[in-house]
Amino acid sequence: MSKIAVIGTGYVGLVTGTCFADLGNDVVCVDVIEEKVKKLNKGISPIYEPGLEEIIGRNLKAGRLRFTTDYEKALDGAKVVFIAVGTPESPDGSADMQYVQQAARSIGQYAPGKAEQPLIIVNKSTVPIGTGDLVGQLIRKECPAGFKLAVVSNPEFLREGQAVFDFLHPDRIVLGSEERWAGEEVAQLYEPLGAPVMVTDLRTAEMVKYASNALLATYISFINEIALICEKMGADVKEVVRGMGYDKRINAQFLQAGVGFGGSCFPKDVKALAHMAEKVSATPHILNSVLTVNQAARDMFTEKVVRMLGGSVKGKKIGVLGLSFKADTDDMRESPSIDIIRSLQEQGAEVQAFDPVAMEASRASLVGVTYCADPYEAADGADALLLITAWNEFKQLDLKRLRDAMRGSVFVDGRNIYDPIEMRDAGFTYAGVGRS
Ligand SMILES: NC(=O)c1ccc[n+]([C@@H]2O[C@H](COP(=O)([O-])OP(=O)(O)OC[C@H]3O[C@@H](n4cnc5c(N)ncnc54)[C@H](O)[C@@H]3O)[C@@H](O)[C@H]2O)c1
Repeated sequence: MSKIAVIGTGYVGLVTGTCFADLGNDVVCVDVIEEKVKKLNKGISPIYEPGLEEIIGRNLKAGRLRFTTDYEKALDGAKVVFIAVGTPESPDGSADMQYVQQAARSIGQYAPGKAEQPLIIVNKSTVPIGTGDLVGQLIRKECPAGFKLAVVSNPEFLREGQAVFDFLHPDRIVLGSEERWAGEEVAQLYEPLGAPVMVTDLRTAEMVKYASNALLATYISFINEIALICEKMGADVKEVVRGMGYDKRINAQFLQAGVGFGGSCFPKDVKALAHMAEKVSATPHILNSVLTVNQAARDMFTEKVVRMLGGSVKGKKIGVLGLSFKADTDDMRESPSIDIIRSLQEQGAEVQAFDPVAMEASRASLVGVTYCADPYEAADGADALLLITAWNEFKQLDLKRLRDAMRGSVFVDGRNIYDPIEMRDAGFTYAGVGRS
């Protein structure tokens, strides 16, 4: 059992702290938002993440998990401190490091006097290459003389919507440090998970995260480009991917054509990597194209809707199924639904939408949307219905009921979850992405 402090209780910090507590460690999570901390101490999760709230409750009850805004309390007796604060996009595309810097300064200010052994600072936030060194410097500037610490980079690869499962069943644990003993100590915390552990240097570990996200985003933009060609030339991208997937060298899992990627990671991480590359004169041709194709996927989807409604959406009622950037999360950050809905509204459409969990979260980024109680209400009187998020509950809808509720017949499937023949048989004027 180790005493662990986790800084930041967002998707990564909260899952990390909760799961480490569930593995038997003594964990204190710190956040600067008092309201969030109060809720968490009552066992209420501020985010929708399947299974998480139950584990929070179990560990609060067992006394292994606490939440606070007080750094001093959190750091008292801690052997390892995880930094898991946000690194959002800056206006110039680089990663905004203000939260990581604040966290580092606070660790320095509240680090207890002399510890028996150096305090291990583990950076889980996705940060530009070289940040590990900077974090060490910032902490050392603030902390008492003689205080010893070691910095480890431990990028996180969990997927929202499956975060608890991913944390407990990782494909790999990457640990980077200039001090091997510190990497090995952190590796012990992960030992119960039985995952392969890679211990490397700080900068390499930081780069593994960016390179991984950039490649996954590239798969999506690649298949969206193929989808566009398929659409123009009469091929079906879903079938194309099926054919490609038999090739052992190709992983078809991420080759899903649609409205493009969103969320709090891929867009900002690809931009941040491209920004870093530009700074060292390593022109990021592929990364720039990935971003261009991704924006085009959203724009082309909107244009398709307009085209299918006869060239104008002015005065048209449009139903939207799904708002979050992907299924099983309420995260609206960079969701394709935002660009698509705003563009349709700007062109004069009236939008009514349903999402199983993200309607509340979407209010911060969408205005003038009518929220509905279920998919059938979103279809009610609509000239067109758009599927933007592939929630499981949208996969078995009563197509006849949906069609009967509508005024028009246009259905645009931004995730290719429906069978075109079934949809046409149900009376829809159906279009997917990359299917003629
Ligand atoms: N969300 C994901 O799926 C995911 C996956 C892998 C990696 N990451 C990376 O992990 C990091 C965290 O992402 P997230 O989605 O959990 O972020 P988030 O925005 O959901 O949460 C960040 C939390 O940190 C808190 N915070 C900010 N400054 C603080 C400070 N000085 N002290 C204490 N708390 C502070 C915020 O109040 C917030 O609760 C990012 O770098 C992200 O790129 C995210």
